[in-house]
Amino acid sequence: MRDLRAQNVAAEMADLLPILPPIQVEAEVDSTNLRLKQAARAGRVAPPYLLIADCQTAGRGRLGRAFLSPPGTGLYMSLLCDPGRDTDPGRITLLAAVAVCRAIEDLTPLRPRIKWVNDLFVRGRKVCGILAEKIDEGVIIGIGVNVRTPPGGFPPEAGAAGALEAEIDRSRLAGRMGGYLLRLLQDPNDPQILEDYRSRMPLIGREIQFQRDGQTKNARVTGVADDGGLMIRTDDGPDILRCGEVSLGSQAFSGLE
Ligand code: BTN
Repeated sequence: MRDLRAQNVAAEMADLLPILPPIQVEAEVDSTNLRLKQAARAGRVAPPYLLIADCQTAGRGRLGRAFLSPPGTGLYMSLLCDPGRDTDPGRITLLAAVAVCRAIEDLTPLRPRIKWVNDLFVRGRKVCGILAEKIDEGVIIGIGVNVRTPPGGFPPEAGAAGALEAEIDRSRLAGRMGGYLLRLLQDPNDPQILEDYRSRMPLIGREIQFQRDGQTKNARVTGVADDGGLMIRTDDGPDILRCGEVSLGSQAFSGLE
């Protein structure tokens, strides 16, 4: 983990922010989200606080899934922040996806595409997942980026996982991701965030499938609502999805490459 150093993260972040949060880098944790949650509840840390790990033994994803987090090839970090009680949680989710896209775009020639709600795709593979969790002390935004393919490849259970496969220093990537997150959090309702999200979200106009009441439904995506909901049209008329995830059926990941 030679390329993961708190002082290098701070140096990169200082490009984007006048005041930096405390930055903690660990070789191994169970889950950066879980560690921060426990530390915040025990009063050991307060927002803003950034925890980064080279590896997680129990990385957690959305919808109760595991997030593969082997050493040396990925970046696993969580930011404890306090966006204020009146900030819509949906906006935090959009903001996080935009922050990570901007960081990757600054440091590589890649242009990640967002699959609602906040999975990032490159070359048709999922390279980043985001798990935002509300706690009494604030919000924890957890981000996992596959920077390189782990030795032996991704296991079948990692599904559509892929890696950035770009020459990138993980400290710099962490610094820019944290910097953009904290910058955007200064004004979560800035309309530019929504613009940036929509311009990287190629599902608008596409046919998708989603689950409701145990059934698979078809719909066409019509847009992204201001609160982050996915606007769709089904045979029953217009509707908005606020959670869960969508699939693209046989079109799989075309448009996300
Ligand atoms: C998903 O794709 O379902 C979201 C994955 C989020 C993974 C990150 S890695 C850092 C942080 N710690 C965790 O345990 N999960 C998030």
